[in-house]
Amino acid sequence: MLETILSTESIRKSFGAHCVLDGVSLSVRKGEIVGLLGPNGSGKSTLLNILSGFTPSDGGAVNVDGHDVTGLPPHAIARLGLVRTFQLPSMPHRMTVREVLQAGCRREAGLGGALRRWRYDAEVARLLDQFLLTRVQDQPASALSGGQKKLLSIATVLRSRPKLLCLDEPTAGVHPNLRSRMVELLKEVNAQGVTILVVEHDMEFIRELCGRCVVLDRGALIADCAPRELVENPRVVEAYLGKAVEKGKLTA
Ligand SMILES: Nc1ncnc2c1ncn2[C@@H]1O[C@H](COP(=O)(O)OP(=O)(O)OP(=O)(O)O)[C@@H](O)[C@H]1O
Ligand SMILES: [Mg+2]
Repeated sequence: MLETILSTESIRKSFGAHCVLDGVSLSVRKGEIVGLLGPNGSGKSTLLNILSGFTPSDGGAVNVDGHDVTGLPPHAIARLGLVRTFQLPSMPHRMTVREVLQAGCRREAGLGGALRRWRYDAEVARLLDQFLLTRVQDQPASALSGGQKKLLSIATVLRSRPKLLCLDEPTAGVHPNLRSRMVELLKEVNAQGVTILVVEHDMEFIRELCGRCVVLDRGALIADCAPRELVENPRVVEAYLGKAVEKGKLTA
């Protein structure tokens, strides 16, 4: 039995009178790649915001790798190993791609001066290469294309060597060729020991990447199954299409 790296217990969140998360409990085991799915407005980004400390919940608990992180700020949660990217990545205007990656590489105690710089440079070069950004490393980060910004935002959070990577729609606006490369990249990252929770609408991407999916609808968890089982699940089909449809026709 694999160890749990993330669990939530009855997470609740409302904005005014609008209940967005209504008691969401889920868990992710070490080494998994789990898809977090659901129609627009079903609460996926809000849940990621709560997991990563960017939004306080109204109730419930979040546990990361054995630590109760409920109510902790984002930097404290990141230090415990959970990092995330945003649905709409924003990049600093005055920094190049390389500088964005250089900022905040994990400090290693006991390493000084030249050796530390050499290690940082080697790590930045590796990330630039892995995420296909070497060619644009001297461009302003804010001038990158939408897809390249997604890649840079993933590379950036990987600098801290996380245990759990939460991604919010990494392929939105990304060309199909780059989308396939993203699947390979995330599998590589996972093979290096990073657990992944990924919000996505692209079902092919989910099928290629994820071993398991959880589905939110109107703030409640309605399915926890293998990607291939989604089309068989009447609650999922109805959530996406608003009515029962012929088996096998779920494409959203
Ligand atoms: N800060 C906020 N203030 C008020 N309402 C909010 C806020 N953040 C989210 N909401 C509302 O909560 C609901 C869920 O939003 P959320 O962004 O979590 O959905 P989502 O599942 O990520 O949708 P999408 O697939 O479109 O990204 C939406 O109705 C949204 O308008
Ligand atoms: Mg969202």
